[in-house]
Amino acid sequence: MIKACIFDLDGVIVDTAHYHFLAWKRLADELGVPFTEVENERLKGVSRMQSLEILLELGKLQLDKKIKEMLAEKKNTWFVEYVNRMKPEEIFPGVKELITALRKKGQKIALASSSKNAPAVIHLLQIENLFDAMVDGTMTVNSKPDPEVFLLAASMLNLKPADCVVFEDAEAGVEAALRAGMKCVGIGSVQQLSKANLVISKTRDFPMDKLSSL
Ligand code: BG6
Ligand code: MG
Repeated sequence: MIKACIFDLDGVIVDTAHYHFLAWKRLADELGVPFTEVENERLKGVSRMQSLEILLELGKLQLDKKIKEMLAEKKNTWFVEYVNRMKPEEIFPGVKELITALRKKGQKIALASSSKNAPAVIHLLQIENLFDAMVDGTMTVNSKPDPEVFLLAASMLNLKPADCVVFEDAEAGVEAALRAGMKCVGIGSVQQLSKANLVISKTRDFPMDKLSSL
């Protein structure tokens, strides 16, 4: 029986996935790496450094560690600039209402994001009170598709993986959820997220009556 709903942040609760893309695109342009929303799909859900590695691989660039750290920092500065201009109203429509309704049904709610900026984003959106547990990129060693972030969220809730369903917009996130032994609701396109138990185009479209039959 599903007892907890675990939410990814970027692209599931708020459109910060787009800000990540804009910041990576800016860096890619500076480096002369061809980069569009298509290539960006591979970066979704994975850590900052791993995202940079994918970008460099796309551009067939080999750089030393110091330069890579500087570039990752640069991308993050741009991302933080975009995020700091964000208003609490930018939360995806219906998400707060969905989480509140799930809570009323007795579901525990957790956040499980690969982003080190997740606490700041949650604070900006003023939604800390929606979550029973929060896991961000500073708390894990391995990022999605490794299941660590979701397993940690489940253990913080004192629940077994089989009791949890994950809401994810990234292919790497869907894989991580399934590897954790959890159910997964994909947010986005069926082509991209075909391995999920259910795919819906927007988080708010989740049919709550499907919770028991995922
Ligand atoms: C994930 C995003 O949530 O966090 C990725 O989907 C991002 O695109 C990753 O790279 C790491 O984020 P941050 O904020 O720690 O650079
Ligand atoms: Mg995401």
